[in-house]
Amino acid sequence: MKEKINVTDYANIITKALPKGILLNTFADDRFNSMVIGWGHLGTLWNKPTFHVYARQGRFTKGQLDKAGEFTISVPLENPDPQINKICGWQSGFNIDKVKEAELELVDADTIK
Ligand SMILES: Cc1cc2nc3c(=O)[nH]c(=O)nc-3n(C[C@H](O)[C@H](O)[C@H](O)COP(=O)(O)O)c2cc1C
Repeated sequence: MKEKINVTDYANIITKALPKGILLNTFADDRFNSMVIGWGHLGTLWNKPTFHVYARQGRFTKGQLDKAGEFTISVPLENPDPQINKICGWQSGFNIDKVKEAELELVDADTIK
């Protein structure tokens, strides 16, 4: 189910979820990839909610971010699925298709690719 939310209403959940790992999703060159992140900042710039992420140089995700210039994050409302975290946090999009391996269900975004 898709629902428009006010991100600040979920600030507590997002902040608590981060150390356990949330998903940083990218789409470039016709490839979707998802990587677990534990670093991030929820904030505000010019009255708009922002989310800062940190991707190490060698990650498949870093190349995707450079190409796409956009990303989404997925935050589990409860504990993260251990299987998804194992695949998206320890395996690389350089070697596997994480959508297939982790059986991710993708939902189109409204404003970005
Ligand atoms: C709990 C957890 C948090 C992580 N946080 C980050 C992070 O903030 N930034 C980062 O570059 N890698 C982080 N990683 C490592 C990447 O998720 C991991 O190297 C992944 O396999 C990279 O996937 P990719 O090559 O497909 O981009 C984290 C891993 C775990 C398990």
